[in-house]
Amino acid sequence: MDEPVFGFGRNKVGQATLSGRPLTELFSEAQVSTPAYFYDVSAIRKRVLEMRAAFGEAPHLIAYAVKANSAGTVVKTVIAAGAGIDAVSGGELLLARSAGAPPRKIVLSGVAKKDDEIDLALQENILAIQVESVTELLRIRERARARHQIARVSMRINPSVKIDSHAHIATGHDAAKFGIAQSDLPEAFATLAGSKDTLELVGLSTHVGSMLKAPDAYLKSARVVCAQAKIARELSHSLEYVDFGGGFGIDYGDGPAAPPSEFATAALGLLRDEGLSDLTLVVEPGRSIVGSYGVLLAKVVQTKTSGERRWLMIDAGMNDLLRPALYQARHRIEPIDKVATDTIYRVVGPVCESTDDFGEHAIGEVPEMVVLRDAGAYSFTMASEYNARPLPAEVFVDDGKVIHKNPSPGLQAWLAARLRA
Ligand code: LLP
Repeated sequence: MDEPVFGFGRNKVGQATLSGRPLTELFSEAQVSTPAYFYDVSAIRKRVLEMRAAFGEAPHLIAYAVKANSAGTVVKTVIAAGAGIDAVSGGELLLARSAGAPPRKIVLSGVAKKDDEIDLALQENILAIQVESVTELLRIRERARARHQIARVSMRINPSVKIDSHAHIATGHDAAKFGIAQSDLPEAFATLAGSKDTLELVGLSTHVGSMLKAPDAYLKSARVVCAQAKIARELSHSLEYVDFGGGFGIDYGDGPAAPPSEFATAALGLLRDEGLSDLTLVVEPGRSIVGSYGVLLAKVVQTKTSGERRWLMIDAGMNDLLRPALYQARHRIEPIDKVATDTIYRVVGPVCESTDDFGEHAIGEVPEMVVLRDAGAYSFTMASEYNARPLPAEVFVDDGKVIHKNPSPGLQAWLAARLRA
């Protein structure tokens, strides 16, 4: 038997494949309309298992940042492979629980958790509410008192570390809204000291940002957490874990990123050096679990030439895949059924915005369909219905077989909902 093939590829005759099967074949089998996301669930499962293996025997938790891809099939796969969940809203917390995540494998982050979200986290008795300000600590104390409960909390520290990523996805610098500033930590520790009947400090966490291609900034922020972990121990808090966040990058065609295992090895080494190896190491990867294993299929609507420029108009727009418009991100676009030759097209969607533009791509002879690559993370989850465009379809492929599909709700459903509004 042939070895299984994971994620996106090309077969001998040049057809684009996912999970080893030609995407044209998967598309006709799935019977969905374009635009349509296709995910390789087997590749996602393998990725989680590889990440887990990188931690060896060390106590650890991979808390999947479910904001990256919240499709039930994906979330259940990731949980079944042994991961927990990093949730950033009550909705994500409910999704995590409903998809089978044990409460003690869930953390809740977010700078503006509402009372009902705090209550939900307390009710579910999750691993910890990751607190992002002293004010929030006081609000959690109130809610825990009202419920006669001890709240398990972790302090998310803003490590004051800049990273080499797009400004919109950097979270650990001084001007970011995230985390407790180091200058506020003494006040936070004082609050905790005076509230031991209601607040239990079980962890310290951070998240420096996204698309890290090497572990240096990750380690820099992790060191800040380790220093505070030692202070917490001196203050006799019985810490259970440190959480160094997510942010492991992937290759969008602009060069490889260090694999998650390299981040894991570096983080474990740091814990050993700091004498903190007894603590559970939590990481919160999102993109690196799902990003490379999803594609967006779109049909070519038409071409247009203006002066020197060749445009290729496709039926997927910024409402389906927002990343290029929001972060100037580049997703490789390729013909579905043959290898591209060097005729360059500027690929754009149908949305009435100049930023509905996926950039220039070598396409060659105009194909019927194109593949937008690396669309497994922050793609469907950031989609909208802008311009009266119903949400795209999603298809789930496991080991070359279509196991599930979620067709687009369609125009009639959109129309009925908007008429009711
Ligand atoms: N933990 C926290 C607290 C986060 O805020 C994030 C991402 C993660 C973990 C996961 O980061 P990852 O491993 O996926 O890099 N929409 C943007 C990315 C925004 C990331 C937001 N926070 C994009 O499409 O590039």
